[in-house]
Amino acid sequence: MPLTRDDCLALDVADALAPLRKQFELPAGVVYLDGNSLGALPSATPARLQQALRDEWGRGLIRSWNDAHWIDLPQRIGDKIARLVGAAPGELVVADSTSVNLYKVLSAALDLQRQRSPDRRVVLSERSNFPTDLYIAQSLARDKGCELRLLQADQLAAALDEQVAVLMLTHVNYRTGQLHDMAALTRQAHERGALAVWDLAHSAGAVPVDLNATDADFAVGCGYKYLNGGPGAPAFVWAHRRHVPQFEQPLSGWMGHASPFEFAPEYRAANGVARYLCGTPPVLSMVALECGVDTLLAAEPLGGMPALRGKSLALTRLFRELVDQRCGGHGLQWVSPRDDALRGSQACLTRESGAYAIVQALIERGVIGDFRAGESGSPDILRFGFTPLYLRYLDVWDAVEQLLAVLVSAVWREPRFSRRTAVT
Ligand SMILES: Cc1ncc(COP(=O)(O)O)c(C=O)c1O
Repeated sequence: MPLTRDDCLALDVADALAPLRKQFELPAGVVYLDGNSLGALPSATPARLQQALRDEWGRGLIRSWNDAHWIDLPQRIGDKIARLVGAAPGELVVADSTSVNLYKVLSAALDLQRQRSPDRRVVLSERSNFPTDLYIAQSLARDKGCELRLLQADQLAAALDEQVAVLMLTHVNYRTGQLHDMAALTRQAHERGALAVWDLAHSAGAVPVDLNATDADFAVGCGYKYLNGGPGAPAFVWAHRRHVPQFEQPLSGWMGHASPFEFAPEYRAANGVARYLCGTPPVLSMVALECGVDTLLAAEPLGGMPALRGKSLALTRLFRELVDQRCGGHGLQWVSPRDDALRGSQACLTRESGAYAIVQALIERGVIGDFRAGESGSPDILRFGFTPLYLRYLDVWDAVEQLLAVLVSAVWREPRFSRRTAVT
């Protein structure tokens, strides 16, 4: 039996997570399928920012570092994010960007390996990893005399040889939504003497992660995607507690000092997680990030990350079924894994031509996804992210309805839809 609009409505009625949508300000008439790039605005954020601006900054002035506890924000929000990724309180801090945090942890991992096994000089990663991860690894490889070795996802485990110092991967692939088995790859890396560094940019807040149970070594992640922290929100960084005593912070700024307000001329790393900090925290961005993280913690009484994961999979599965059922014959290919166990929270399609223009035509009709150029020679990608906190099953129906309309009318062929903007 083909699925109908009423089936989708019934799924929404039965959805125990449906009330969480009220936490967001979503524009009318928009189906937002890009929370994997920039999460939606939580309704609490504008008032909280106003308070931070007018009361804490305006009236409190410099006193707010103590009185409004600004100085504790990196740890306080870090403890909240820790609950989403299987870390313990005090193990994770919010700081800088994902790129900068990756620099810190990859540098630390390579230094640890240099002390233990100086012959291990390879950073192993996936060719289709997010470019910033590869660029950061390239610069560290250059500075530390190492080699960055890039392979396809299915070649990684076999390539963990005695030369590999660090396995550096992004848990969910940004283009395809393909999910790595973090526990298995970390275990294999350890068995063969390598450390495992994970980028959780597309996992934190979307896919259950248990950093301590998987025994990962280091992890970083993004604040502005599924954590709904706002454009350019600060990122997070975690290190397994076994590394904390030895972890050297390559960006030894004063906020990572054991006692910043001693103003001592010599750097002395703070105990534990605080040593991953570098400079002054961006308070307004941190305040917005905390509102975003709170929208996820609000799901805890309703089943937390496992319940969100269940809905996320149901949404991407429904999208695939509706696209298969209704959009056949229009040249679309499914690029995200069909197997639930291998798929993150996004559903991506390819088409030989027109991917960019189709996405633009959809955006004009209120269905906001995005476009990513295909990997060297492969077709381009129409990318749709599904945020279970605020998407309804009916939204999936509406998105496919618009996709079908764009394809049938061929409106996307109008030249205006092919004009490239700076950000895709
Ligand atoms: C996997 C991954 N890592 C890192 C980033 C971005 O890092 P940054 O916040 O430093 O720009 C992205 C951005 O989309 C990403 O997808």
